[in-house]
Amino acid sequence: MAAAKKTLRVVVIGTGHVGSSYAFSLINQNLTDEMVLIDLNKEKTEGDAMDLNHGVPFGAPTKIWAGEYADCADADLVVITAGANQQPGETRLDLIEKNAKIFKNIVTSVMDSGFDGIFLIATNPVDVLSYATWKYSGLPMERVIGSGTILDTARFRFMLGEYFDLDVRNVHGYIMGEHGDTELPVWSQTRIGSEHIGRYMEKYKPEGTQQDLDDMFINVRDAAYHIIERKGATHYAIAMGLARLTKAILRNEHSILTVSTLMKGEYGLDDLYIGVPAVVSRQGIEKVIEIDLNKEEEEKLNHSAQVLKEAMKPIFN
Ligand code: 2OP
Repeated sequence: MAAAKKTLRVVVIGTGHVGSSYAFSLINQNLTDEMVLIDLNKEKTEGDAMDLNHGVPFGAPTKIWAGEYADCADADLVVITAGANQQPGETRLDLIEKNAKIFKNIVTSVMDSGFDGIFLIATNPVDVLSYATWKYSGLPMERVIGSGTILDTARFRFMLGEYFDLDVRNVHGYIMGEHGDTELPVWSQTRIGSEHIGRYMEKYKPEGTQQDLDDMFINVRDAAYHIIERKGATHYAIAMGLARLTKAILRNEHSILTVSTLMKGEYGLDDLYIGVPAVVSRQGIEKVIEIDLNKEEEEKLNHSAQVLKEAMKPIFN
């Protein structure tokens, strides 16, 4: 008889808007056998577990419960969405001190359980907190992944798809850098189908202008502010992005996604987590993809890295 397949367990820490939307997204995609919810507000996680369990008959068999840090011992993936989120007008970097403190406790508690899997981090500022998780956990860098610019890249592709009236799956491009105000669009490598965006525009949208594209990027960069002004938080799209990453990891997909990962000389950067395209698989980060950037993009990426390093100073001095 073949050996029984190992049960897959995902632990979600923080069941606010993002954590609970992620849990919902996960059970709809049949990506894990077990899902454990942990939050300071135990009653809320109990309620969420009951509510999600009652949906299982409509989806795939998944065991869901409100758990404890001890449940992380057997986890394949621990996803952290806990922490304070931006209030209207606040930047992601404004959250740094509050959330770094919370993270020290969370990561230590997870590691004390004997956890030896992969961390996926979504709390902001995500680049700094992913670096913090790597430091606090002592795990190899490939097993600490930040959601990085996965959502910004999705927003970018979505808006380009709308602009050209095309299926977003035919839009290929990346937002790199900080998940925040200094991120950058990599126009020099953006393709529609296999055509460079500039050439595609000349041929099929001659009335389009560079100004349209520049305005679009501003909308991508500021999207979270626009949503927070209207509804107080963003959660559905990031939750779907986290589920996409979960799938790449647990199904060993070797997918290229823009995540926050440790720089060790790539793009001339060192000792920080920042959003870059990387291959994601069951081992976590398999490799960083170093795409060719033009001079201006290189400078913008450098600037973004400098801003992150400056922000990290008070915490990692
Ligand atoms: C977002 O970009 C707030 O980081 C969150 O939606």
